[in-house]
Amino acid sequence: MQPPRLQISNIVKEFGGRRVVDDVSLTVSPGQVTCLLGPSGCGKSTTLRIVAGVEMQGSGTIHVDGALVCDTVYRVPPEGRGIGLMFQDFALFPHLTVGKNVAFGLKGRDSKTRVHDLLDKVGMSRFVDEYPQQLSGGEQQRVALARALAPRPRIMLMDEPFSGLDDRLRDDIRDETLDVLKSEGTAVLLVTHEPGEAMRMADEIALMRDGRIVQQGAPYNIYNAPKDRAAAAFFSDINVISGRVQGALTDTPFGQFLAPGVPDGTEVDIVIRPQHIKIDFDRDGRGPNPTPEDGSAARGTVQRARFMGASSLVELRMDFDGSILRATVPSVFLPQPGTPLWLMLRRDRCFVFPQS
Ligand SMILES: Nc1ncnc2c1ncn2[C@@H]1O[C@H](COP(=O)(O)OP(=O)(O)OP(=O)(O)O)[C@@H](O)[C@H]1O
Ligand SMILES: [Mg+2]
Repeated sequence: MQPPRLQISNIVKEFGGRRVVDDVSLTVSPGQVTCLLGPSGCGKSTTLRIVAGVEMQGSGTIHVDGALVCDTVYRVPPEGRGIGLMFQDFALFPHLTVGKNVAFGLKGRDSKTRVHDLLDKVGMSRFVDEYPQQLSGGEQQRVALARALAPRPRIMLMDEPFSGLDDRLRDDIRDETLDVLKSEGTAVLLVTHEPGEAMRMADEIALMRDGRIVQQGAPYNIYNAPKDRAAAAFFSDINVISGRVQGALTDTPFGQFLAPGVPDGTEVDIVIRPQHIKIDFDRDGRGPNPTPEDGSAARGTVQRARFMGASSLVELRMDFDGSILRATVPSVFLPQPGTPLWLMLRRDRCFVFPQS
């Protein structure tokens, strides 16, 4: 079997006795994007710098195509690792044209064709003789991508590469970048703190917290089967309803929830995203008839409703305990504060986590 393009094994890094990267392992295959996703300070950039070879790990190994590039004794220098880099504060050489910027790391006869091909791929051919300061931010980003890919790196390391761009432009550039990277067959390790970016770009997400990878998998799986409450909360706003387990069931105002394998008496959090709460009207103090699928409905009063374009976010104060729950509904619906409404939880979208 082919070894993975990049294999990071049990990397540990400490700064001043504090463990910043704690036993991180992951692999990336050619043509695949793996995303290190996590909050600020969780150790993403440090991990990336260790792979790049500009930082030294305390323990652990890195292999590229099955060959050791570094452990704690042996160390291939950064320029010998076949790695391309793209960071947020990428800087093009201001005194070189676009074409010369892309050609910078290239030697040999075919470099002209390579520059031409790449500028074509990123849609920048007609700017070949311009200077960086004549380009917009997005155009500079495209040139930076072409420059990083020019020497045909086996691995691209990208650290928040799109964060300098405005929203609409960023979506376009992300998609284009992904197309180019896939067409080059490069293995990509992308660092971001934005779940939206990770889900859009990644084949696989490694969710990091306090230096550790807490969950790893395809975006669909991580989003729909988060490992704990914090993993669920990292991807969207969440609602939490608490309960206590009795006989593998938890009673709540929304009906009973299964808590298989959880010991009696354990407090659990039932977590649901705002878009998975269903809303129904009040009929003279009565709600909808419960179905087995929806469990029971519980009543609340609208505190606030905000129009958000594609949807509205409705905040309700619940009758049963005065807590606030948030539901997103299609934006045709924008209820007035004070309106009583009934809520039901989509049970197949609820996560039940024992409280820690
Ligand atoms: N050279 C260093 N010396 C001491 N501490 C460091 C050094 N580099 C990073 N750290 C610390 O290690 C932790 C992880 O830093 P890192 O840059 O890897 O975080 P990050 O996940 O990339 O965060 P962000 O999303 O903000 O970029 C931080 O607490 C940071 O202060
Ligand atoms: Mg960082």
